Parts: sequence; C-alpha cells; structure tokens
Amino acid sequence: MIKNILVPVDGSASSDRAVTQAISIADLCESKLNFLYVANINQLAINACLSDAILAAVRKAGDVILERAVNMVPSDIKYETFSETGSPAVTILDFEKQIKPDLIVMGSRGLGLVKGVLLGSVSQYIVEQSTCPVMVVK
Ligand SMILES: Nc1ncnc2c1ncn2[C@@H]1O[C@H](COP(=O)(O)OP(=O)(O)OP(=O)(O)O)[C@@H](O)[C@H]1O
Ligand SMILES: [Mg+2]
Repeated sequence: MIKNILVPVDGSASSDRAVTQAISIADLCESKLNFLYVANINQLAINACLSDAILAAVRKAGDVILERAVNMVPSDIKYETFSETGSPAVTILDFEKQIKPDLIVMGSRGLGLVKGVLLGSVSQYIVEQSTCPVMVVK
C-alpha cells in the first residue's frame, strides 16, 4: 500500500512532471502527498553571514514553488508541505528517514545548468541512498 508519497520539488519542468505523476498515483492509491522544498543555502557563497532578509527571501522563493505544486493537487487528495534549508540531497534523505514514505517521486533533472546528463546530482544521490522505492520522472 502506498500511503505516503514524498515529492521533493524545485520548481523545474522535470519536478512539475513528477508532481503530475505523484498526483496520479495518489489518486489511485488514496495516498497522501508530502511536498518538500529544500532552500539550498550552501549554494550562496556568503553562507556564513547570511542576513535575516536574505534568508527570508530564500524561504519565500520556496513558498512560491510549494504553492505551485499544491495548486496542481485536486481537492480530494491529501497533502502537506515542508520547507527545509541545507544541501538538497542530504536534506531530502534525512527527511525520508524521518517520515518514512512508501515511495519517493522526483524529477530526473532540476534547475541545474549542465545538459545531456540523465540524472542530476540530487536525483542520483537519492536513487543510490534511499531505502524506499524511488520513481524518477523524466
Ligand atoms: N532544492 C531542492 N528541493 C527539493 N527537491 C529538489 C531540490 N533540487 C532538486 N530536487 C529534486 O530533484 C530532482 C532532480 O534535480 P537535480 O537537482 O538532481 O538536477 P539538476 O538541477 O539538473 O542537477 P544539479 O543540481 O546536480 O546541477 C528535481 O526534479 C526535484 O524533484
Ligand atoms: Mg539541482
């Protein structure tokens, strides 16, 4: 039984397609969708001296991405949204250990600029390290 699905979202086209697939599965299996956005503060060079204003702006960007995912969900499907900060790959895996979903549905690629590679670093890490089934959506 797929009761809980973890859907890590970064606002990319691939992530949007993952949301669509996750909704179809949730519809069939009456699962709950758990959307997770990780604000990648490690990517900012000035990590050590981030002002509250910058952190607030980063979180706001995440809220917009989560909001877009939520807007795709039909009203009869249960969902929850989560926002974390840190390295996306490690944080998604930590979160998986916390909520123990039955399935992870995520995009193969994200917002990264390198083209022509099947998997991004986040999807590759999760496929390798996760202890639950992972559906990677192209
Ligand atoms: N910051 C994030 N928060 C939540 N989910 C994410 C985040 N970044 C990526 N993901 C998930 O991982 C999927 C694959 O993205 P990934 O980052 O691996 O590819 P990429 O951006 O093309 O490559 P890279 O980041 O290595 O340059 C996305 O479609 C999304 O589902
Ligand atoms: Mg990425």
